[in-house]
Amino acid sequence: MTNKIQLTITRPDDWHVHLRDNEALIHTVPDAARYFGRSIVMPNLNPPVMNTKQAMAYRNRILESRPAGSLWQPMMVLYLTDNTKPEEISQAKASGQIFACKYYPAGATTNSDSGVTKLSNIASVLSQMEKESIPLLLHGEVNDHNVDIFDREAVFIDQQLQKLIHNFPELNIVLEHISSKESAQFVAERPHGLAATITPQHLLYNRNHMLAGGIKPHYYCLPILKRDVHQKALIAAATSGDPRFFLGTDSAPHTTCSKENACGCAGCYSNHAAIEFYAEAFELAGALDKLEGFASHHGPDFYGLPRNIDTITLKKMPWKNPTKLPFMKNTITPLGAGEMRQWQVT
Ligand code: DOR
Ligand code: ZN
Repeated sequence: MTNKIQLTITRPDDWHVHLRDNEALIHTVPDAARYFGRSIVMPNLNPPVMNTKQAMAYRNRILESRPAGSLWQPMMVLYLTDNTKPEEISQAKASGQIFACKYYPAGATTNSDSGVTKLSNIASVLSQMEKESIPLLLHGEVNDHNVDIFDREAVFIDQQLQKLIHNFPELNIVLEHISSKESAQFVAERPHGLAATITPQHLLYNRNHMLAGGIKPHYYCLPILKRDVHQKALIAAATSGDPRFFLGTDSAPHTTCSKENACGCAGCYSNHAAIEFYAEAFELAGALDKLEGFASHHGPDFYGLPRNIDTITLKKMPWKNPTKLPFMKNTITPLGAGEMRQWQVT
């Protein structure tokens, strides 16, 4: 068991975050820029970020909220639809600011109504991405009302991911926010070209936290938290040192009232304390020595980008996670609201 009270690591990056737009950026961008060097910014705005022009305009709006002196970089992503054209991919690549394209199965999650209805509809786009070496980021769930919500990720692997990898063997793919032992195992067994991000909520919590003793909507995200056997498999994957697993918070702001609702929104907000959450999960697993690889090395290595060159230092100094954060004229109830957290960045 590692028993450290201080830890210095290469500056980490976040390979999956939702910043939203306009006034929301005043809150989300400074949180993202606290300690991360870079963040991969999800394009599920309303309307979505579907082309290079929209991505560049969104990037400029984001940068207006970047704190003075910060070197944090937003990395832009295009939202794929049934109508995305291969030429869009070439333009995105030429911009130098677009690092990936995101597949949302239509209707599967927040602002995914314009997503892809069938992967075969975007075959020519995927083939162009393969040629241009642009990674495909997957929301890896089937959106089928006949499939139990706890099985949607495993069914996606069986019905769609295997075929996708077979049809596009050179396409770099990130299975985002993995939530099941099936995903962890599938990724670990592939030799190259497939990686996965893991969120703090899937490492620290399981469905009992969300459903036992009353429904706790602030743990509700998609893919949904599952049994503890899945949580354990994700902890094992994240702390294994395997370079195919890396940090992606999926921090996704929704107001407190839109989650405490008869039809609550999916998403957990963690960017106000992201690296702190991960440090706690790694410490609980006795694997603090594996945090740096997961948080700071494996992501840039997979994307073919340089690692950050400076460092951050975490200290074990317990503090109380706030119950609410201000968010425009509302509040956000963050992940683990009101709980004691163990680590702080000095
Ligand atoms: O929990 C989630 N929230 N999962 C997603 O896929 C989308 C995200 C959001 O945008 O709120
Ligand atoms: Zn997400």
